[in-house]
Amino acid sequence: MKTATAKPIATTENVEDSALNELFIDEIKDLYWAEKHLVKALPKMIKGATSAELKTTIENHLRETENHITRLESVFDSIGEKAVAVKCEAMAGLLKEAEELLTETDKGTMTRDVAIISAAQKVEHYEIASYGTVKTLAGVLGYNEAAELLEATLAEEKNADALLTQVAESTVNTSAKSEKK
Ligand SMILES: [Fe+2]
Repeated sequence: MKTATAKPIATTENVEDSALNELFIDEIKDLYWAEKHLVKALPKMIKGATSAELKTTIENHLRETENHITRLESVFDSIGEKAVAVKCEAMAGLLKEAEELLTETDKGTMTRDVAIISAAQKVEHYEIASYGTVKTLAGVLGYNEAAELLEATLAEEKNADALLTQVAESTVNTSAKSEKK
């Protein structure tokens, strides 16, 4: 039986020359773009939301998100890289979908809040997956300062997700249930 022969892989002792390092930097650039665009999208969600509870939850996360941008700049700085944003297609798609949900639901309804929470949680889950990966990669590559910064943001993304679930389950979902289409 014939077996395919893999191309020999060049190896390096120097972390900065590794393909993994390049992948890590690409992921950070992607997240930098994602956070910068999220800061522009969250005010639209706040404006569109019906309940005061949801508005406050997203307002708090907007302030955290501004800090996530600053933290990523510190991450770039800590590894001697220039802070560059590269378009994140996934976040662009999630935010486009969030905008569509705002036009498809009626202003002043709880159904709209359900839609906003759904869109916001999709964003959070994307960020949780991304920060989880880059935090781990930072550790593997020996970037301890970066790993700590990324862990701090990861914790805030998880908290934001949990708070959105709380808002949905405490009032929004039940109130939306009785709204006529
Ligand atoms: Fe964030």
